[in-house]
Amino acid sequence: MEENSYPSFRAIHSVANPLFRDDLILIAIEILPLVPPVDPGVLLENLLRGLAETGYVIIPRFLKLSDTRKLIAECVARVKEGDLRPAAIGRGAGKNILPEIRTDNIHWLESHDLSESQTVYWDKMEDVRTRLNRSLFLGLIELEAHLACFAPGGYYKPHLDCHKKTQSRILSAILYLDEDWVESDGGQLRLYTDNINGVKGPSIDIFPEPGKLVIFVSAEFWHEVRKSSRFRHSLTGWFRGRELMN
Ligand code: OGA
Ligand code: MN
Repeated sequence: MEENSYPSFRAIHSVANPLFRDDLILIAIEILPLVPPVDPGVLLENLLRGLAETGYVIIPRFLKLSDTRKLIAECVARVKEGDLRPAAIGRGAGKNILPEIRTDNIHWLESHDLSESQTVYWDKMEDVRTRLNRSLFLGLIELEAHLACFAPGGYYKPHLDCHKKTQSRILSAILYLDEDWVESDGGQLRLYTDNINGVKGPSIDIFPEPGKLVIFVSAEFWHEVRKSSRFRHSLTGWFRGRELMN
């Protein structure tokens, strides 16, 4: 492309921003028309492919702020109405409420009776489920999800999400709802990234940010919620596969 075919563009940018380098502007002009507009679905699919490589993926702004605001408003209202119940550990007869392990209160979503804001979440998660089945052949048959609220001082000690004797929870997916979280608020999701050494291995801390979705393989990743000094609201979901009986 001839250098002087964009004289006005170059002139405007070098005046407006002296740091703009002419040679880079020219490269950008040449490349931009060749890059097709990015389809959000394709972008999501590329991110999801990260699961095949690392076993976890972090998707910022999976939901728009206007949607997370409706979800958190609903969560706060339900907390006020006493609709949330202390979460238990284990399942069936081995189910126990153990505040020394987890302190959150939860409310399960009913797929046949979703509120308007829950439907937005559910539909986007179903989209993720079908994309994962299509591109990674995961055989995810359904989603289960609950609202979760940790009161100030709350935590969830290191654990795996997959119940003993079952592999039905294949992927865990946590969506954060709180705004303006700062480091000193605590409440990070600590994900232990070495599946063999678990809590003795390295970890990453994931900051709750509105609309951020974190997905990881339920049976492989030890994780915990660090002590939070403020109310912490999220939607925790699991993509389930077929139940394997031992
Ligand atoms: C859970 C869980 C993590 C989080 O509910 O099982 O680990 O960041 N939640 O809320
Ligand atoms: Mn968990």
